[in-house]
Amino acid sequence: MTIQGSVWLATATMPEYDVLDADLDADVLVVGGGVIGLTTALFLQEAGADVVLLEGGRIGARTSGNTTGKVTSQHGAIYASLLDRHGRDTAQQYATANQDAVETVAALVDRLGLECEFSRAPSFVYTTGSEDLRREAEVAAQLGLPAHLADTQELGLPVQATEVVRFDDQVQLHPSRYLAGLAAAFTRAGGRIFERSRVTDLRTDDRIEADTEPGRTVRASHAAVATLLPIGTVGGYFARTRPHQSHGIAVRLPIEAPTGMTISVDDPIRSTRPWPGGGPNGLIVVGSDHETGDQSDTNAAYQGLVDWVGSLWNVSLQSEYRWSAQDYSTPDQLPYVGKAPGSDLLVATGMHKWGLSNGTVAAGILRDTVLGHDNPWSDLYDAGRIGDAHAVAQLVKDNLKVGKEFAAGHLQRVLGAGLDHIETGEGGLYDGDGRTVGAYRDHAGDLHTVVPVCTHLGCPLRWNQADTTWDCNCHGSRFTPDGTVLDGPSTTPLNQPDA
Ligand SMILES: Cc1cc2nc3c(=O)[nH]c(=O)nc-3n(C[C@H](O)[C@H](O)[C@H](O)COP(=O)(O)OP(=O)(O)OC[C@H]3O[C@@H](n4cnc5c(N)ncnc54)[C@H](O)[C@@H]3O)c2cc1C
Ligand code: FES
Repeated sequence: MTIQGSVWLATATMPEYDVLDADLDADVLVVGGGVIGLTTALFLQEAGADVVLLEGGRIGARTSGNTTGKVTSQHGAIYASLLDRHGRDTAQQYATANQDAVETVAALVDRLGLECEFSRAPSFVYTTGSEDLRREAEVAAQLGLPAHLADTQELGLPVQATEVVRFDDQVQLHPSRYLAGLAAAFTRAGGRIFERSRVTDLRTDDRIEADTEPGRTVRASHAAVATLLPIGTVGGYFARTRPHQSHGIAVRLPIEAPTGMTISVDDPIRSTRPWPGGGPNGLIVVGSDHETGDQSDTNAAYQGLVDWVGSLWNVSLQSEYRWSAQDYSTPDQLPYVGKAPGSDLLVATGMHKWGLSNGTVAAGILRDTVLGHDNPWSDLYDAGRIGDAHAVAQLVKDNLKVGKEFAAGHLQRVLGAGLDHIETGEGGLYDGDGRTVGAYRDHAGDLHTVVPVCTHLGCPLRWNQADTTWDCNCHGSRFTPDGTVLDGPSTTPLNQPDA
C-alpha cells in the first residue's frame, strides 16, 4: 500500500508547540516555521534578540518537510547559465554563498548534535541528450566549486547518460529531523514558537503588528516573513514569482540503490538520492514538475515516477510513500531576500527548489539585516530588484499566461449535477442548485464543500485528486477539502457555499 504523505514527516518526531493565546511583544517576529524561518529565528535568538516564531500549521510540515533533503551548491546546471545572464561576479557570489551554506548546515548539525541522517556524498547532474555539461563543469570549477566532468559510470544510475558533472563532498540529510533539531535548539536558547497561529494581517507603523487567526496580536521591532511566498500582497512578490509543484516517491529496489545524489537536466527532470530508512535498496525519486494548479490528472505525475524507476531497473513496483510540495521560481534565477520594497518587512522567497542551501544563505542575510551588519550576499539576493530585461519580459509573459488561466478557469469541467451522487474518494466541481460548488467525499463518507474561488485574489481553484487539495494556479495558494489554508499567499479559509 502506498502511504500518501512525506516519508520524512512520517519518520520524524516533530516537537509540538502551543497555539498563541495572549498578545505578545518581541524584538523580532518570524512568520513561518520552514527551513528559512527556523534558521533565521535560531540565528537571531543566538545573537541575543528576543524572537517569536508564528507558524500557521505545524513547523516543518509544508515545503521544507517535503524536500529531497539535498544540501548542495549543485543546483542542476545553473552556473553556465548564471555566467551568461549575469556575468562572472554574480555567478561567483552565488557559487560561494551556496557552497558556504553547505558548510553552515554541516557546522550546525555538528555543533547542535542534530541526529538527522547527515552524510557526505557526491552530487551528479547528468544529461541523456545533447545538453552541453562540459561547459557547466568548466564554469563551476573556475568558480572554485568542487566540480569536474565525471565518467558516466560514476553516476550509478542505469540511464544512458552522455555527460555527467560531479560535485564532491556535498550533503544529504533527513530534512524533518534537521528541522526538529533547529526548533529545539531555538527554544532551548529562549525563543518562543507558536503553532496553528496563522498570521492574517501585518501592519507596519511605529512597530510591526501581526494579527493572528487565534485573535491575538504580536508586536515586534522587526519581522521576517518566511512563508514560502510572502503573505497577502506584501512586496508584490505574488506577481514576480511562479509556483511549481514537484512529486516525490520512496521505493525499495530489488538491488542496492545508487549511493550518490543525482539530477537530470532533461525533461522531465528526475532527482534521486538514497532513502536510508528503506535500507540499502531504498531510493527517493522526485520530479514530474509542473506549475501548481495546472494539471487535471495529478495521479499521472506520481505514476510517471514509478514507471521511470520500473523501466530503469526492469521491475514492477509500488511506491511506499508518495507526496508533493511546491516552491517558487523568479524570472532571473535568483531568490528575493531582504527588505520588501516600500515596507519595513523582511522577506525570503523564490528559492527555485534549492531552499536548503539558498534558504540558509537567506537566514544569514535576514539576521544581518536585523542586526544592522553587512552581509556579503545581500546585494546578490536584493529583494527590491526588478531584474534584467529578459527577466522583465518573462514576468510579463507569465502574467499573461495567468490572465488566460484565470479566464479559462471557470470553464473547467463541472462533473455533474447534485452533490448526493459523489462517490467516496471523488472530488471536483459540481453543479449544486445552479451554483458551481467544490466538493469532495472523504473515505469516511463525509462530504466537504467549498466555494472554489481563491481567497487571495479571487482566481478559480482546481481540484487536485491525487493530493486531495484545492490548488490555485495564479499564485500557488493551496487548501484542504474543507477550505483550510495549506499554503499562502492566502491567509483566509475558503468560503462555504451556504455562507
Ligand atoms: C519536491 C521538492 C523537493 C525539494 N528538494 C530540495 C532539496 O533537495 N534541496 C534543497 O535545497 N531544496 C529543495 N527544495 C526546495 C526547498 O524545499 C524550499 O526552497 C524550502 O523548503 C523553502 O523553505 P521555506 O521556509 O521558505 O518554506 P516552507 O517550508 O513552506 O515554510 C513556510 C512556512 O510558513 C508557514 N506559513 C505560511 N503562511 C503563513 C501565515 N500566514 N502565518 C504563519 N505561518 C505561515 C507555512 O505553514 C510553512 O510552514 C525542494 C522543493 C520541493 C517542492
Ligand atoms: S494565490 Fe493568488 S489568487 Fe490564488
